[in-house]
Order: sequence, then C-alpha cells, then structure tokens
Amino acid sequence: MKFRTLPGTDLQLSAIGLGCWAIGKTWWGDDVDDRKSVRAIHAALDHGINWFDTAPLYGHGHADTILKQALEGRPEALIATKVGIRWDGEGAHARSDLRPEHVVADCETSLKRLGRTCIPLLQIHWPCELDTPIEATIEALVRLREAGKIRWFGVCNYNATALAHIRKLAPPGLACLQTPFSMVRREFNHDLREVVAPAKGPHLGVLAYETLARGLLTGKYVGPMPPTFPTTDLRHRDDRFAQPVWGKIQPLVRALILVGQRLGVPPAALAIAWACRQPGISVAIVGAKREQQVAEHVRALELLQRNRVWQALAPHIEACRP
Ligand SMILES: NC(=O)c1ccc[n+]([C@@H]2O[C@H](COP(=O)([O-])OP(=O)(O)OC[C@H]3O[C@@H](n4cnc5c(N)ncnc54)[C@H](OP(=O)(O)O)[C@@H]3O)[C@@H](O)[C@H]2O)c1
Repeated sequence: MKFRTLPGTDLQLSAIGLGCWAIGKTWWGDDVDDRKSVRAIHAALDHGINWFDTAPLYGHGHADTILKQALEGRPEALIATKVGIRWDGEGAHARSDLRPEHVVADCETSLKRLGRTCIPLLQIHWPCELDTPIEATIEALVRLREAGKIRWFGVCNYNATALAHIRKLAPPGLACLQTPFSMVRREFNHDLREVVAPAKGPHLGVLAYETLARGLLTGKYVGPMPPTFPTTDLRHRDDRFAQPVWGKIQPLVRALILVGQRLGVPPAALAIAWACRQPGISVAIVGAKREQQVAEHVRALELLQRNRVWQALAPHIEACRP
C-alpha cells in the first residue's frame, strides 16, 4: 500500500480508501449481502487500506453498523464520516441541515453507532439547504475538536467560491475537501484546484469520490445498450447508464478493457490510478460490495508511475471529458 499524508495534518491515509455507501444497502440494488460486506472490509484491511468513508445517511445507519462489526478489535482503522443530512423517514427527501445543534447531535450519534470515542475525520456532507451561516457550523466543528470528539474536519461537495470563503476563515482542524472526480466527472476543476492548492499558502487535502463512476469504469457494464437496474438501485435513473451519455462513454470503457488486458490489470485499477495521479488529488475513495472488487482496486498502485499507459489512454479520456 502507498500512504499519503493530508497536508497540514497527521492523517496518513492509504492512497485508496473504502467507500461504504453501497454497504449501507439502500439505493444499491438487491445484491448487497452483509456477510460479503464484512469480508470486503476485512479484505481492505488485509490489503493495507487504513481508512473507511461512511455517513449516517448510508443505509440510514446500516453502513456504520456493518463497519463497527467488521472493525471490532481494529482501533487503528481510521473512519471518515459525515454530518448534516437529515431525513424524516427512510423514504423521505433528505436535506442538509447544518445548524450547530444538529452537527453536534449527529456527531454524538455517530460516535455511539461506530463504537468510537473520537472520529478521525468528520466531514460536512453537503452545503446547507437552510440559512445557517457556515461560520456557525464551522464553530460547532471546532468545538467538537476542542472537546476531543473529532481529530480533523472537512467539507464535501463545496464549489470553489464556497470553499474559498471557508479557507479564509482559517479554522483550526480543517483538513480536506471531498469531491466527485473521475475520468467522466470533473467537478474538481481548475477553480477548485486553485483554492485547494494555491501558488502561495498552505494546500488542502482532496478526497476524490466516485472514481469508478458507480461501476461504469470497471468494464463490467459494456455493450451497445445500457444495463437495466432494479428501482432499488440508484443507477436506474443515472444518466450515465442511459443514452445518449452511455454511448458517448462506451469507447472509453472499451479502451480501459483493452489496455487492462494488455497489462494484465482490471479496468477498475486503471480508472482509480488515473484519479490518484491527477494534480491536487490526495487520495481516492472507492466503493465495493465484495472482497474481489477490493482486490481489483488495489492493483491501481502498480500503475501510478506507468507514464506510457496514460499516454495511450489520454485521447479516450479526453473524448469523454464532460
Ligand atoms: N460525499 C458525498 O456526497 C459522496 C457521494 C457519493 C459517494 N461518496 C463516497 O464515495 C464512495 C465511492 O463512490 P460510489 O460508491 O458512489 O461509486 P464508485 O466507487 O464509483 O462505484 C462503486 C460501485 O462500483 C461497483 N464496483 C466497484 N468495484 C468494482 C469492480 N472491481 N468490478 C466491478 N464493479 C465494481 C460496485 O457496484 P456493483 O457491483 O453493483 O456494480 C460498487 O458499489 C462512496 O461509497 C462514499 O463513501 C461520497
């Protein structure tokens, strides 16, 4: 395993972290099996993955429950979780509520559910949908840190303007931005890069999520027509799994399969390695339902320095640039 220190922190994270959304079951189809999820988490640990990204929303607590069970006796495993999303019932619309009292309550509930006394990294899950000033939310996070309940905090899904504002506040403990980023998703654009890695001033860590485009870049989903997902799987209404986007991405998927075959590596490893190599990206969060998928992900580490591979793939990646 390769490890990367998040700038300005003592968080030494494996280049790949295991994303636990699918393990929560809800929204990821009918084939998520708790015993296989536990085995996937154990496989991650065996491969040297030392951190796990979860959230209260993932299965409305179920991902946390499985994570706690699988990490029993492994206190050194780092957990990155989130705060701020509220829901009234499992089917109800979830919204971001960053009022300080909610942030504190969310953190306390997560500590209990995860069986921990301190959370290594607590992230704001989504920008607030109410009128709570970000200053008040950040202050609550700083207080949680002072109380020893969290070690570091971060934000997810913020744009360049909002993140620049937070960075100007310079709160002690701010460690990272979590943002979607893959060969087919580029929210992490030039403007965000300037904010996290300015020419002058300290850099901020960046955790890239959805590096496999929800499985699309693994080579499993290939062909002239998109697959059909059950309505329990959020991909049944993901436009990347529907025409015309499907057709646009397929040449890249075929290129990943071909190059992967030549090199003897799974296409997923290529997609993950590409993300990890991009300037400004600290580490990648990758989701998995089974141990075999985790075993494929870690093959990415073999590819980080293979420059000729990336030259061969560059035109295909460029053609899919959103
Ligand atoms: N902060 C946020 O707002 C936010 C939002 C989204 C995600 N995230 C985090 O990022 C993590 C990763 O994102 P994601 O899970 O949405 O997407 P992803 O990592 O791009 O895709 C994960 C899915 O791809 C399939 N897959 C994974 N490895 C595979 C392999 N080797 N071969 C074939 N299929 C494979 C699996 O589903 P199938 O087997 O069913 O195809 C798996 O559930 C999440 O778990 C979560 O921790 C955060």
